[in-house]
Amino acid sequence: MKNPKVDALFKPLQLGDIQIENRIIMSSLTRMRCDKVTKSPNDLVVEFYTQRATAGLIMTESTFISERSQSWPGCPGIMDQVQVEGWKKVIQSVHNKKGKIVLQIWHSGRATHSQLQDGLQPWGPSAIEINGPHQILNIPHEIPHEMNLEEIQLVKNQFRKGAQLAKEAGFDGISLHGSNGYLIDQFLKSNSNKRQDEYGGSIEGRCKFCLEVIDELISVFGKGRVGIKVSPIGRFNDMYDNDPIKLFIYLFQELDKRQIAFIELMNDKDEENAYNHGLPSSQSQTQNLFEQLRNSFKGVIIGNVGLTGETASQLIEAGIIDAASFGMSYISNPDLVERIRYNFPLTVANPDTFFEGDQVGYIDYLPYQQ
Ligand SMILES: Cc1cc2nc3c(=O)[nH]c(=O)nc-3n(C[C@H](O)[C@H](O)[C@H](O)COP(=O)(O)O)c2cc1C
Repeated sequence: MKNPKVDALFKPLQLGDIQIENRIIMSSLTRMRCDKVTKSPNDLVVEFYTQRATAGLIMTESTFISERSQSWPGCPGIMDQVQVEGWKKVIQSVHNKKGKIVLQIWHSGRATHSQLQDGLQPWGPSAIEINGPHQILNIPHEIPHEMNLEEIQLVKNQFRKGAQLAKEAGFDGISLHGSNGYLIDQFLKSNSNKRQDEYGGSIEGRCKFCLEVIDELISVFGKGRVGIKVSPIGRFNDMYDNDPIKLFIYLFQELDKRQIAFIELMNDKDEENAYNHGLPSSQSQTQNLFEQLRNSFKGVIIGNVGLTGETASQLIEAGIIDAASFGMSYISNPDLVERIRYNFPLTVANPDTFFEGDQVGYIDYLPYQQ
């Protein structure tokens, strides 16, 4: 029997020019199973996304735009024709199942290590390293090189080139990875951006790079197929802003002027983690992030972090978000849409198989058997 408490998730929705059949969105999931030589999606990856094609919309895993922008082995790129061909197979297979798929375009900035990118020093807005070990290498982070104005322009060009290749591959849209302490987020936040020039200082200065990259993506895909993911209060990768609500109200208003299709908004719950260093916790900065930002952006807001079918539905009915994205539940429930619709129990994911490895813990989670 259908669960009446999740009805709101099953009303179709228009995200700019992208029409989706339900509001259950698969959030980006890095799984490090792509071909390590070509850095391109392989058959396993095609199968993983195809199994999840009933989602209203799939956000791909983080996909890098240059050799200097990758931070994890086994992640895909969008830099060359081999990768375009790899992505085409994913997209065609998802489209054959009537699914929709958007590329998450990514630059890791300081959140990488020269050992993972042929000796290249990481870049960042300022020469401030992440205070904490690298997630995969478990060694200290390096001090990034502070990007000069030519390097900022180069990276903007790389984002545009990546978007052109994504369009050629056939993606339904593109989402800028502005969350979780990667390059865009590093420019936004006060603890990682101490620049004295027009790309730092004031809130307007810290948002400038992000908005210029958004404009590059719009120039390729058109405003109705561009989105962004943000994490205003997230601590992952040693991030912190001293006034996140003010910062993100401004950013949302600027994104609203550009009429982009969606913002995926992470409401992080980090109370304590490796990066806290005595700073206030995420939740102590605000208890109602969604409500505080809602009115600054008229387009679609996709709520994220810790949601269930029922909590997401309630937020949609209250007009606080328009759709919801699910990360962890999509690792182990390829048929999440049906499980939410019929209130079937969810399979719990095994964290040991999150990253790298083969099909185990990747494409062997089965649909619910009654
Ligand atoms: C294994 C794993 C990989 C992830 N990879 C990405 C990623 O590539 N890009 C991204 O923006 N978020 C990534 N995330 C975060 C999720 O997209 C999502 O924001 C987070 O899990 C919170 O949603 P949830 O509470 O429904 O799990 C990842 C999360 C997990 C658990």
